[in-house]
Amino acid sequence: MNDSTRLGSTVPLVTPLFQSSVYTIADLEALDRLYSGEEFGFIYARDGHPNATRLATIVARMEAARWCVVCSSGMAALTATILSFVRSGDRLVASHLLYGRTNQLLRQELARFGVATSFVDATNIDEVRRALATPARVMLVETMSNPTCRLVDLGQLAELCDDANVDLIVDNTFATPSLVRPIEWGADVVVESLTKLMSGHGDVVLGAVCGSDPELLPILNQTVTIWGFASNPFDCWLTERGLSTLDLRMRTASSNAAILADWLTTQPGVRRVIYPGRPEHPDHRLAQRLLAGGFGNMLCFELEGGRDAVNCFMRQAPEIPFSPSLGSTQTTCSYPAGTSHRFESPEEKARQGITDGLVRLSVGIEPVESIKERIHAGLRTKSSSMSL
Ligand SMILES: Cc1ncc(COP(=O)(O)O)c(C=O)c1O
Repeated sequence: MNDSTRLGSTVPLVTPLFQSSVYTIADLEALDRLYSGEEFGFIYARDGHPNATRLATIVARMEAARWCVVCSSGMAALTATILSFVRSGDRLVASHLLYGRTNQLLRQELARFGVATSFVDATNIDEVRRALATPARVMLVETMSNPTCRLVDLGQLAELCDDANVDLIVDNTFATPSLVRPIEWGADVVVESLTKLMSGHGDVVLGAVCGSDPELLPILNQTVTIWGFASNPFDCWLTERGLSTLDLRMRTASSNAAILADWLTTQPGVRRVIYPGRPEHPDHRLAQRLLAGGFGNMLCFELEGGRDAVNCFMRQAPEIPFSPSLGSTQTTCSYPAGTSHRFESPEEKARQGITDGLVRLSVGIEPVESIKERIHAGLRTKSSSMSL
């Protein structure tokens, strides 16, 4: 930390929390020096504050990026990024497998401002090539899609985007830099919902945008400041603490998820299991090439019996809380058809494989046998016995 945190001859080991919305400035000359960048300091927390600056430095390093801007949520980070690139009349190309709210951002919100989106199957390189043949400003994909964990070939996409002079934005929320750093595969910008695995304890809402183009940074900062996408100090402080264990948490959660995915395929009442670490997953080979140190903590399983069976699971397994987020230390479940993708049409849900019986599991870091027991309680029918 810098001199402002010095206490006598010592400085605190842990970054202090700077819970202040505004800073004091000596006089108007000092104000001018701050605005011109001649002197380093803070003025107003919507424009920047020490906890965001500190967190941005750490996240940029983790993502192999030159810079990072912290925003008030993952959605704020995505919105700020896109707004920094586009103007009315521009066209985006986006994967047709995205988080539901991101879909709404593109289809409803940006469309209102005359920004059109062409949705493509980003796992199909020929389809992407055809989509990029028409001028576009940016392409948006998720490394590992929510909820069905489809992966995209980041290297190939980056090459195609480069050839077409299109900037590639990658939402890396499900994978995190612990598994893959999209910038190293050629992405121009990486967005993370820090709310999830990055902060990792279910007590923060925050997002980040990382990149390396020096010309984009001031535009992004201006977008964040003026549209009001700025972060708050306490969430940044908590996230900094959470990040120090990201690799440890990811390793344990990925290992647990792999064991649970295999085990779930043997459980009565489970129709299918979706996990990139399973050989039958359509992107298993790509996942082996792209991801380092595991296949992630996210998996889905489909229950025979649809919505009623899911309700029964949730009621019988209160220790796998139905909690529509992901990435906490505790194993939780969610219901994509009713939460993350609630506002998609029935046709769209069907196309994405989001069925009425689909449960999304965010695997935590508890001992795996205890997670099995808790899930088993949910799967139990009158005739089933414990077979762990
Ligand atoms: C893949 C993905 N991207 C972005 C977001 C948005 O993040 P936040 O909830 O922090 O706004 C989510 C939220 O679930 C997500 O799953």
